[in-house]
Amino acid sequence: MPESRVLVFVGPLLITAAVLQLLMAAKTHSRIGGVLGHTALPEDISINAREYSQHIQGSPKPVRQNSSYPKEPFISGTVPSGFLWGTSTAAYQVEGGWNTGGKGESIWDHWAHQPGRTPLGDTACDSYHKYATDVQLGANLAMTAYRFSISWPRLLPDGTLAGGVNQAGVDYYNKLIDELIAHKMVPFVTMYHWDLPQALQTKYGGWTNASMVDYFNDYATLCFQKFGDRVKRWATFNEPWSFIVPGYGLGVSPPQMLFGMKRRQYEVAHVVIKAHARAWHTYNDSFRAQQGGEVGIVLGALWGQPRNTSDPRDVQAADNFEQFFLGWFANPIYGNGDYPDAMKQMINGDSVADPRLPVFTEAEKAYVRGSADFVGLNQYSAVLIYASDHTFPLDFISLVMPDLKGVKDTSDPTWPHGASSGFSAHYVVPWNIREQLRYFSEKYSHKVPFYITETGISEKEQFPPNMNDTWRQCFYMLYVDEAIRAIKLDGRDVRGFFAWTLMDNIEWGSGHSVRLGLHYTNFSDPNLTRTPKASAKLYRDIATSGGFPEGAPHTKHTQDWWDWCHTNAPYNNDTEIGAGHYRGPH
Ligand code: FCB
Repeated sequence: MPESRVLVFVGPLLITAAVLQLLMAAKTHSRIGGVLGHTALPEDISINAREYSQHIQGSPKPVRQNSSYPKEPFISGTVPSGFLWGTSTAAYQVEGGWNTGGKGESIWDHWAHQPGRTPLGDTACDSYHKYATDVQLGANLAMTAYRFSISWPRLLPDGTLAGGVNQAGVDYYNKLIDELIAHKMVPFVTMYHWDLPQALQTKYGGWTNASMVDYFNDYATLCFQKFGDRVKRWATFNEPWSFIVPGYGLGVSPPQMLFGMKRRQYEVAHVVIKAHARAWHTYNDSFRAQQGGEVGIVLGALWGQPRNTSDPRDVQAADNFEQFFLGWFANPIYGNGDYPDAMKQMINGDSVADPRLPVFTEAEKAYVRGSADFVGLNQYSAVLIYASDHTFPLDFISLVMPDLKGVKDTSDPTWPHGASSGFSAHYVVPWNIREQLRYFSEKYSHKVPFYITETGISEKEQFPPNMNDTWRQCFYMLYVDEAIRAIKLDGRDVRGFFAWTLMDNIEWGSGHSVRLGLHYTNFSDPNLTRTPKASAKLYRDIATSGGFPEGAPHTKHTQDWWDWCHTNAPYNNDTEIGAGHYRGPH
């Protein structure tokens, strides 16, 4: 089985086809009794009857219905000055040099070195040696910012200060940061993008252990001390949901702790939220006055659109979904310091004696509440949510949120969806950005600026590579325009947009097979050459001009392509068809 099929667990919809099918099969088996034994009268006979008949016929998919959301017209316009245009990367996905220059092993290195796996991350894109090339790629795209993550085990090989600081690691990040500044790019640094030092996992059980709050604080403090004179934007964690549920709940990604869906994942999140808050307080108390930067967190945001916006049950179901996905972390940090009510009720119910969802003390709530200067949202796509008490059909929610009751997800048949996409469940839903920002702004009282810290679209690896990635051009036209719409029409304080990703990299368990880069990386070439795809030119033109100014050639081009980009055509065709090839004004 190719490495790519082993795990397709990336972003909010991180499910490998293979693992998903296995889990589905297992769940299907174990749930049949439950459904047949379901005696409550369905509230909506037609929906339930249809689901049930599909189940009987063996169809895993519900009949998909259109949501009532209209396609938005194109608007021209530019972002405010100072807006950051960037790309995002993560250490494990690009650095390589896994044991070079004194680096310790991470949980992803450890996972990749198990028998039967190919440790592609050992070299990855070799950014450990080619960082200057990467910075130049960013500069060629006229980026004003560059998001990357620091590898904790590169700085602290066993994760602890007691184990010693690795000077070669400090030197590496110093060189990268200096190179970025020399090229007029703002370094936007994530401290934890999933590559925990393996030693902390082995000795303490990783994030299951409350002492991780101290270890993470030591590491964050070291980062502020060493790099805070030049780094002014810090994200503590990248998408906590995406490493906690797969890693500590389902057990399908490192550290592969199985059977944790009922309790362990909630305990882990409790530790992670406290670790985030602690790092923010450390910065606030000891570094802010001198360094004047911002510390926030990056959350995975998968917009849950009510299937029928005039049905209050669907609207409530969508809100519950948001609470379990985004609100799990956003509500404590940006809301009232506590978990969302929907989670407390559905997970703990009346059980005060032995709550599965941990309980914050009043002092902890006060400590966590407001512990962020911005929020980063990784905003790729959306799901359609509807209320249903049925166990079938099995869906994303059934698999990854078993405690979320009465809520099911599907997709809208009108949403473009690429056959060429590496992620099967990746729908092109640009307005998810605006809806998510609206929801966040209305829901949470702690008002902070937004950064779209990741968005992008994948294709499967193909030979020869198709450098004319029309689908990715369409994707960025639609998504950037949506961010501009949020700023211009809704007045949202969006301060940056980061494309995932600078170049094709190691897409976690999917390896090279799933590609999201603006640059093609030739992994067969010992030099790992990076070549700009057509989308890179478009993104450069957008960034250089601050969006879509009236009269600019790429603005006109976007207008011309607008309707076509809202169909399936670009995403299903890897060839130069329909709308023609974007060559840009340069
Ligand atoms: C995000 C991850 C990032 C990458 C993209 C595709 O969830 O943060 O590392 O894998 O998905």
